[in-house]
Amino acid sequence: MSKILIVDDEPRILLLLQSLLKANGYAVETARDGNAALDIVRKGGIDIAVTDLRMTPMDGMALFREIKAIAPNVPVVLLTAYASVETAIEAMKSGIFDYLTKPFKVDDLIACLKRAEEQISKSATSAANPEHPVRYRFENFIASSPLMVSVCETIQKVAPTAATVLIIGESGTGKEVIARTIHRNSTRAKRPWVAVNCAAIPENLLESEMFGHVKGSFTGAVADKEGLFEAANGGTLFLDEISSMPLLLQGKLLRVLQEKEIRRVGGTKSIPVDVRVIAASNVNLEEAVVKGTFRSDLYYRFAVITIDIPPLRKRPDDIIPLARHFIRAERGGTASVPEISADAAKALVAYDWPGNVRELENAIKHALTFYHSGDITSELLPQKILEHKAEQNVSSSSTNASLKSFLKQKEREYIEQILNTTGGDKEKAAETLKVNLSTLYRKLSDD
Ligand SMILES: Nc1ncnc2c1ncn2[C@@H]1O[C@H](COP(=O)(O)OP(=O)(O)OP(=O)(O)O)[C@@H](O)[C@H]1O
Ligand SMILES: [Mg+2]
Repeated sequence: MSKILIVDDEPRILLLLQSLLKANGYAVETARDGNAALDIVRKGGIDIAVTDLRMTPMDGMALFREIKAIAPNVPVVLLTAYASVETAIEAMKSGIFDYLTKPFKVDDLIACLKRAEEQISKSATSAANPEHPVRYRFENFIASSPLMVSVCETIQKVAPTAATVLIIGESGTGKEVIARTIHRNSTRAKRPWVAVNCAAIPENLLESEMFGHVKGSFTGAVADKEGLFEAANGGTLFLDEISSMPLLLQGKLLRVLQEKEIRRVGGTKSIPVDVRVIAASNVNLEEAVVKGTFRSDLYYRFAVITIDIPPLRKRPDDIIPLARHFIRAERGGTASVPEISADAAKALVAYDWPGNVRELENAIKHALTFYHSGDITSELLPQKILEHKAEQNVSSSSTNASLKSFLKQKEREYIEQILNTTGGDKEKAAETLKVNLSTLYRKLSDD
């Protein structure tokens, strides 16, 4: 049985929360101000603290910081008025476990306490197992640059909460991996992960896709169907390209986030759902709000926690570690995991990666289809990346390529084209090109 400390300067609210929590099987202590609360925390035995934000002389945030200093493992839940949502944003960033906006439902508070309890037991087991708790080490997630390390810090902080998260970044920067990493490191990790790309589903079908429908609600609705919200119950729903969501549906989504219940298309019954929503966008949603294509209230709901992923060109420190990661991923388990040669590394870092991490991943796959033995050298990289480097060289040293090297390069490009059409199958490519397989290999490996 967890012991909860409730702090509020209104005796009426203290009494109410105390009896509600007791009825739900919690042990409860109460305090009417920060100092009294700290006295209780110092005595020990408190598992979770729930505090009002607006109190005097010490407000909820100040109390949170004091509690962190005395009992760093006690999760603190903040109760705020809607108007203080900005403070709540700051609070989440500084490590508040979660916040509830007043007025809230008792069930929300209980659910929040349950999650806090899960986090406590999780960190207790990882503390007992010293092999695990490496900070900011996420499986299959590479972050070497300072910019990405700070993204990791945010992930670490928000993952255990129930907060909705907005992830903004250019195409291919890793929005989906980050959303997944948040899910995997949350208390919902063992519950469903459901992803939907709002841009990929026709407008008229998206609502029924998200909320389900009842039989006969529209032509083609031949049976009752569960929507993605129900499928994701207890887990996380990832709404990709949220800016493509039609305005009308945005309104419905906002209501679902507030009410925590859905209604199937054509249905009358409200179905309760407990789903954490993470949204992603590669366009600036603030601009979409200004243009009137995105609802501002929905935007503010999501923007409480925003993760901005910088494009790869702004974090060159990540390029080589990511490249190595992709080589391991492709070659993992096989005998040889090749190294990247110095000239290849130079070309990779010099390139500006308009397609971001996805383009890098494809470049590595490309190099590995041509790879024979030894290190991964620059000629194995896609032509575009080398051209980019060549352009830079031309401007600095203006060397002219010989006819022979020009022909070789063209030959190379042609072979690559054919290999692309055969999906990397070298035997088929050799057949098409009417050369021996060994000739093809030689042409691919020499320079
Ligand atoms: N930091 C990272 N560590 C490891 N792999 C990464 C990282 N960032 C991106 N990737 C990989 O790069 C590819 C593209 O990432 P992802 O699909 O998450 O990008 P995205 O931002 O969702 O792209 P889009 O906007 O095109 O949907 C994926 O294969 C992903 O696994
Ligand atoms: Mg994506």
